[in-house]
Order: sequence, then structure tokens, then C-alpha cells
Amino acid sequence: MTTRFSIAIAAILLCASVAQAEKQHAGSKPFQRCVACHLTDGQGIPGAFPPLKNRMAGIAATDLGRNYLVEVIDAGLMGPINVGGTPYMGVMPAQGAGLDDQSLSDVLNYSVLVLDAKHVAKDWKPYTAEEVAAIKAKSTKSSAAHSASLRLPLAATYPELF
Ligand code: HEC
Repeated sequence: MTTRFSIAIAAILLCASVAQAEKQHAGSKPFQRCVACHLTDGQGIPGAFPPLKNRMAGIAATDLGRNYLVEVIDAGLMGPINVGGTPYMGVMPAQGAGLDDQSLSDVLNYSVLVLDAKHVAKDWKPYTAEEVAAIKAKSTKSSAAHSASLRLPLAATYPELF
């Protein structure tokens, strides 16, 4: 009985990890849109394109941050911003027109689970297309400047993430 139970648990865990790997893989294609600026490993270019590597899990772990990340990808971002003491005064063009809700959730899950794998909490819930759609529907004034205004309270509340 116990052995069967353990086999069942092992099978469930195996399915879960396969599903997780597919989630990561699903985001690698839409992430190609980001690599011209943020580079393949998300390292960015100091002073020009901010790093995503080793940063996204912390931001996506907060409610404000989850919301902010969807807005940035969908509507872009127009600074000025600071990351780790380095100032950026760039413009990120909106990516929403080229990404449906599923691809947008995939690219964010990729940014968190692959580019920042070591900081992901065990109970972190990946984005879904439904969550992305709900955040977009709630946002009445998506724009690059609006994304920057969402970043201010986020950076003030969690300075360690920025
Ligand atoms: C054409 C260049 C370009 C592309 C393409 C681009 N970004 Fe950006 N991204 C930027 C710039 C520039 C900034 C900083 C804007 C500023 O200085 O206000 C930025 C900022 C960000 C931020 C906010 C970081 C922070 O510290 O608040 C995130 C998250 C992000 N980009 C993710 C992505 C993802 C994911 C993609 C692909 C879907 C992508 N970007 C595509 C140029 C780009």
C-alpha cells in the first residue's frame, strides 16, 4: 500500500516537473523579442538596457510587482529608473501588440523561472493567460509613462529589488 502510494506520488511529481520544463520552454520563443536589448541571458547592458537576470523572481513575488511586470511588457517603460545604483534613461517599446496573453505570460514565466531560477520561491505561482488578461483589463491607462508611475511605489516599498 505504502509503496503504491509512493509510486503515485513520484508519478505526480514527475508530471509536475515535466509541466514546469514545458512552461520554461514555452517562454523561450517569445523571449527572442527581448534579447536584442536585454541579451540572451537577460544580463542587459549597464546604463542602456537594465538586467532582468537574477532580478525577476523577487519582483514577481510581490503583488505590485506581478502587476507592474505585465504592464511593462504590454505597454513599455519610459524612465528615468535606477537599477542597483545605475541610472537608465531609456525607452522600452511596448511589446503587447506582438504577444497574446498566453505568450505574455510565457515570457514572464521564462524571465522568472529561467533567468532568475535560484530566487524562485517554492510556492510561487506562474503567470497564466487569464491573470495577464485580468491585469490588462483593470489597467485603464497603459502607457510607457504609466508603467514608470507604477514603478515608483514598487521601488519605494521594496528598495532591495531595485
Ligand atoms: C528595444 C529594446 C528593448 C526590448 C526589445 C525590450 N526591452 Fe525591456 N527595457 C528596455 C529599456 C531601455 C528598459 C528601461 C527603460 C527606462 O529606462 O525607463 C527596459 C525595462 C524593462 C523592464 C523593467 C526593469 C525594471 O527594473 O523595472 C522589464 C521587466 C523588461 N524591460 C522586460 C522586457 C521583456 C521581458 C522584453 C521582451 C518581451 C523586453 N523587455 C523587451 C529595452 C527593451
